[in-house]
Amino acid sequence: MSVIPTAPVSQLLQLKPLLDEAEIRRDIERLRRERNAVILAHNYQRPEVQQIADFVGDSLGLARQAACTDADVIVFAGVHFMAETAAILNPDKTVLLPDERAGCSLADTLTAQDVRDWKAAHPDGVVVVYVNTTADVKAEADYCVTSGNAVQIVSALPDHVPVLFAPDKFLAAHVARETGRMLDVWDGACHVHAAIRIEDITAQQEAHPDAELLIHPECGCSTRVLQQVPDLRLYSTEGMVTRARASSASSFIVVTELGMVHRLEREVPGKTFVPVAQTACCNYMKMITLENICESLRDLSGQVTVPEPIRRRALLPIERMIAIG
Ligand code: 13P
Ligand code: SF4
Repeated sequence: MSVIPTAPVSQLLQLKPLLDEAEIRRDIERLRRERNAVILAHNYQRPEVQQIADFVGDSLGLARQAACTDADVIVFAGVHFMAETAAILNPDKTVLLPDERAGCSLADTLTAQDVRDWKAAHPDGVVVVYVNTTADVKAEADYCVTSGNAVQIVSALPDHVPVLFAPDKFLAAHVARETGRMLDVWDGACHVHAAIRIEDITAQQEAHPDAELLIHPECGCSTRVLQQVPDLRLYSTEGMVTRARASSASSFIVVTELGMVHRLEREVPGKTFVPVAQTACCNYMKMITLENICESLRDLSGQVTVPEPIRRRALLPIERMIAIG
């Protein structure tokens, strides 16, 4: 059974100052070559971590990169469930999570036993789990989804099948709205997205009246915003990049975790991106630093492995996820 070590939030941002950033960057470059390693970073990572990564993206993009890399070592600049997904896809590679305490409050809301009990109560149901779950939970699931393809995957399921959707209730509400399907929903949420308030959005709209809203479906406030703006689209983090490029708007209010603003500024120069609230910060994502990436590459520390019986069962829902969207 895999365990997500969840450190108290107060400890998570107590980081050592960088001694010599240029030197650490040089060491990372050297170690990356020597180890034939690739660094995959989520859109919520610190700016300097995004800048040193070989690939930056959303959960779906990162899983796809992990599935096709020919590197021997994958350094995951993200959180535990993402590194586990890479390990499930690559049993013969070394997968490193530079700080093993980088968990996820949403993944923590659901255990494999919860899913077994839920299935027992709905034996004809299809279990669809968000990628933000442990390997043990994925091993109990039929399909795995990300915010980038959840709507497509659920709409492709036969109409008569009951769908058990876990663990994010706000993503579930988005999927139910978009597909018109009734879902049986787990009562889970991400503490960062659930804490973003409608008042935070309104305050930014007053300060930036021409800005377009980019809202992630994990946000609890999205239902109320949609009541006011029914044709508003919600976007995965990568979907936000695509939308910001295509939109005629020149400024955007970014309603998700803060790190996304850096990704958008890099990818879509010339436009303005305003974070919805400085408090929308995932402490787990921010635990990954240049220093611990360097240490992890040097010592091969923070190895993430998944026991083979669990890995084999978790692989199918993950492969289905990667294939769609
Ligand atoms: P995406 O990057 O898939 O949109 O998910 C956001 C998230 O909260 C990851 O933990
Ligand atoms: Fe988990 Fe929320 Fe952090 Fe994403 S932002 S890793 S869902 S705690």
